[in-house]
Amino acid sequence: MDDHAKTHTLLEEADAFAHSRLSKARYEHTLRVADTAENLALAHGLDADRVRLAALLHDAAREMGSEEFLKLADKWNLQVGDPERQSPKLLHGPVAAELARRELGIDDGEVLEAVMAHTTGRPGMGPFALVLYVADKIEPARDYLSVGRVRRLAREDLNGAALESLRRAIAHNEARGKATHPASRKTLDWLETDRTTQSRIEQE
Ligand SMILES: [Fe+2]
Ligand SMILES: [Fe+2]
Repeated sequence: MDDHAKTHTLLEEADAFAHSRLSKARYEHTLRVADTAENLALAHGLDADRVRLAALLHDAAREMGSEEFLKLADKWNLQVGDPERQSPKLLHGPVAAELARRELGIDDGEVLEAVMAHTTGRPGMGPFALVLYVADKIEPARDYLSVGRVRRLAREDLNGAALESLRRAIAHNEARGKATHPASRKTLDWLETDRTTQSRIEQE
């Protein structure tokens, strides 16, 4: 099978995988994220099929129970800190990535990283992960005050859109007295530093 046919088969398998594991509402969210991520990938010159694959898989583990998340994380040696112990559903990205690897044989590091990092972000995350992070926040059914701005930004400046989304997520947590995951703070710092460096280079 050539690469194109192989990717096509994987896309179909990932779609069926998500469909079999998710409620109708969450499966439909998944498809909207996949379309949004694919469009962003095309706008930024990334491989749209591989980005779509990550998007189809991103929430595949989202409807597991807390105990199952912790049991699988333990069995597969996934990183579990205090935030994950308190809120095991934070593990749905890493668990979905591991399931995709084990059950669908996906070994594409950038795809797996995107699935893994989509909830909290990850400092140094690659362009696939940035696209998926942002697409999840701006798919057409998302409706919050700044969504229009993030949507516009996403077409021009992925880092900027991710930065805006993270800032909003952190402010949202703070308003509700909820702790922010350390990975999100580190991602925010990383994106801000990256931006300062970028503008310094542009000014030189
Ligand atoms: Fe998610
Ligand atoms: Fe999602």
